[in-house]
Amino acid sequence: MDGNGRWARERGLSRLQGHRAGTENIRRVISNFANHGVRYLTLYAFSIENWRRPRAEVRGLLRLLGEVIDREVHNLHREGVKLNHLGTLDGLSTRLQKRILAAVDLTKTNTGITLNLAFNYGGRQEILMAMNKLLAQATPPESVDETLFSQTLYTADVPDPDLIIRTAGEHRMSNFLLWQSAYSEYYSTPTCWPDFNEAAIEDALQAYSQRQRRFGGLQEQQ
Ligand code: FPP
Repeated sequence: MDGNGRWARERGLSRLQGHRAGTENIRRVISNFANHGVRYLTLYAFSIENWRRPRAEVRGLLRLLGEVIDREVHNLHREGVKLNHLGTLDGLSTRLQKRILAAVDLTKTNTGITLNLAFNYGGRQEILMAMNKLLAQATPPESVDETLFSQTLYTADVPDPDLIIRTAGEHRMSNFLLWQSAYSEYYSTPTCWPDFNEAAIEDALQAYSQRQRRFGGLQEQQ
């Protein structure tokens, strides 16, 4: 969800006001993608590397997450959204950990769109977490294959992303779903996250529909 800071600067607002505007956009984006038949949506809200930002901004983002959960979870639950957390709870306050776990638990049997919230997430750290888990369980090396490894990641039971959209014109992976994105299609738009609206979503999906996915082979595969 890139470009909150730039969006705010262009309007003479603070970075945190930009993040707040970005948060307001989340509801609209979820319902737009759901209307397009998307079954899984992942939002990258806070990376492990984001702890390097100024203390006040980090505190503001942690507070925003708490506020979003308090304000939105019951609406999301009513709409059948299933919430997953991708990332580690380490380093988050006990109160925030409890709110995240309660929201995931409340929505766990919902059958609508699955919303993965990558918060305190890093792709490399996820791969190490999975490897350490397999080692701690004394998993025989010969049984470690792609299926088992995928099932050990935060995204167990979530399909690999078909499309990764990056807003605000960036063209980096930024430690996002490194294992899962092996064959994802990538789309970058100059639109900043708070302005990523219905028309911008249409453009992204239209571009995706033109891609020929070969997964390393020669013919389009499912
Ligand atoms: C990137 O924009 C945005 C983030 C690091 C935070 C995204 C967070 C939200 C949209 C709000 C929090 C939402 C939840 C669900 C907690 P940037 O700051 O890098 O913008 P810039 O590149 O223009 O400076």
